[in-house]
Amino acid sequence: MIRETVVTSLSPENTVHIAPMGIHLLKDEVLVMPFRPSLTLDNILATRHAVINYCDDVRVFAGCLTGRRDWPLVDAEQVPGRRLAGTLAHAELELARFEDDQTRPRLYCRVVHEASHAPFRGFNRAQFSVLEAAILVSRLHMLPRSKIEAELDYLRIGLDKTAGPSEREAWNWLMEKVEAFWREHPQGMNGQ
Ligand SMILES: Cc1cc2nc3c(=O)[nH]c(=O)nc-3n(C[C@H](O)[C@H](O)[C@H](O)COP(=O)(O)O)c2cc1C
Repeated sequence: MIRETVVTSLSPENTVHIAPMGIHLLKDEVLVMPFRPSLTLDNILATRHAVINYCDDVRVFAGCLTGRRDWPLVDAEQVPGRRLAGTLAHAELELARFEDDQTRPRLYCRVVHEASHAPFRGFNRAQFSVLEAAILVSRLHMLPRSKIEAELDYLRIGLDKTAGPSEREAWNWLMEKVEAFWREHPQGMNGQ
C-alpha cells in the first residue's frame, strides 16, 4: 500500500528539503522510491536519515509542486532532521539498505521513532482532488493535454462539493501552474 506523505530530509550542509513522496509501509520497514534526479535521494544517501510527515494540509503538497517550499518546521526528536510543525504525525527514519536503479532507486528505511501530534479527523474528497491534481502537475510534460483536462474536470466535482479554504488555495496554486504551462505549450505534449 502506498501512502502519500511529505518527506523532509537534510543536506550535509543542514539545508532542509521538503518533497511529497508516495511511501510504501512494509512489514518492518518504510520504502522510499524517488525518481532520479532527486534531492531527497541525494540527501538520504548522504545523511542516512529522513522524516516522514503524515500531513493532511494539502497546501504543503501543492505548494512544493508550485515553488512554495517554506513551511514551518520543528526539530526531529531522535535523528538529525526536521519535521513539519503542522503534521498530524511523523516517523523518523534511518537508511537500512539501498537498492540502486537508473530510474527509481529503493531506499529501505528503519523507523527509529514515531509520534502523533493531532487527531485524524476523517477523509475529505477535496484533499484527494488536490493530491491527484498535484500528481498531474508533476507530469505535465508527460501527459496529453486532453487527458489532463478530463481528469481535472472530474477532480473538480469533489473539490467544489467539499473543499475548505486550504484545499481551495492549494487547488488554485496548481491551476495557475497548469495554465502557465498551457500558455507555453498550447497543444500540450506531442501536440495531443
Ligand atoms: C502525492 C505525490 C506523490 C509523489 N510521490 C513521488 C515519489 O514517490 N517519488 C518521486 O520521485 N516523486 C514523487 N512525487 C513528485 C515529487 O514530489 C517531486 O517531483 C519532487 O520535486 C521530487 O524531487 P526531489 O526529491 O528532488 O524534490 C510525488 C508528488 C506528489 C504530489
